[in-house]
Amino acid sequence: MTEPLLNTMTQINYNAKPFLKWVGGKRQLLSQLDAMLPKELYKENFTYIEPFVGGGAMYFYMMQKFPNIRKVVINDINKRLIDAYRIIKDDVEGLVLILSNLQNDYMSLKSEESRKEYYLLQRDRFNNSNLDLLETTSLLIFLNRTCFNGLYRENSKGKFNVPFGRYANPAICNKEVLYADSELLNKKEIVILNGNFTNTFEHLDDKSLNFFYFDPPYRPLSTTSSFNSFVKEDFNDDSQRELADFCRKLSLKDNVLWMLSNADCSSKNPEDTFFETLYEGNDIQRVYATRAVNANPNKRGKLTELLIRNYTTKITI
Ligand SMILES: C[S@@+](CC[C@H](N)C(=O)[O-])C[C@H]1O[C@@H](n2cnc3c(N)ncnc32)[C@H](O)[C@@H]1O
Repeated sequence: MTEPLLNTMTQINYNAKPFLKWVGGKRQLLSQLDAMLPKELYKENFTYIEPFVGGGAMYFYMMQKFPNIRKVVINDINKRLIDAYRIIKDDVEGLVLILSNLQNDYMSLKSEESRKEYYLLQRDRFNNSNLDLLETTSLLIFLNRTCFNGLYRENSKGKFNVPFGRYANPAICNKEVLYADSELLNKKEIVILNGNFTNTFEHLDDKSLNFFYFDPPYRPLSTTSSFNSFVKEDFNDDSQRELADFCRKLSLKDNVLWMLSNADCSSKNPEDTFFETLYEGNDIQRVYATRAVNANPNKRGKLTELLIRNYTTKITI
């Protein structure tokens, strides 16, 4: 038997982490996700693929935990988000310069009213000007830090429309995180894609094991409860079916393992077995998550999430 490359107990100082607050971010679930990873990742080099990367909590975690990742593919349908990954990779210094100026301007304004006015001005620039990618990314991060709840939401015309948020001391330019993220993005061969999740298929590595982590927009637990609209294109039940088809296609390959998160719809309504039916034949586990997007704070409690996998091995730590 081959010796494991890594000790599962290794403690790593995780400096690189999401540079944006992102709905559905997986930071609080990392230890549960970690416990569900396939044991093969501890034994061989592999390609890590994340088709719905969002804020990248799992991507940054995996990159720091597994030095045996040989190649990475990340994707998201949100163009501005993907441009931000590219800018942080290629021009973090330029980004930090513009963000520190935005931070200084913002913090020099003392009244809430003047900060709100400044916020709305920058939001208009973000939506209406022909800015270059560096400026757009700076504004994306600025707006994310100063808008209501760090949401990213677009109207039907694709315009960012989140209102102003009230923060006394928002961390607009977090240099340490941005530099750590940039270093990580430059560490391994990486493909950064902007499009539908299916585009990742052509980047499979035939020569190694491929591990996919899917974190799609959640299927709403009820028609009114959940926020899952990140961009103007909705992710509806047909998209969930398309994703299940994609997973089936991957399972036909002998060098692909995948894990997928979604909302546990049957916890609200036991008759709702949408995912159980869609992913029949795969391993389905339940883990606890804290959901914070409901407008009503009383409804933001702990919910179960589904973790679906095309393997059953479990690492015992
Ligand atoms: C639940 S979030 C992922 C959160 C991420 N795991 C994190 O820790 O921040 C889902 C992401 O899927 C993206 N998305 C929505 N529809 C998509 C599609 N058809 N293909 C690829 N990405 C899509 C959204 O822009 C969003 O960033």
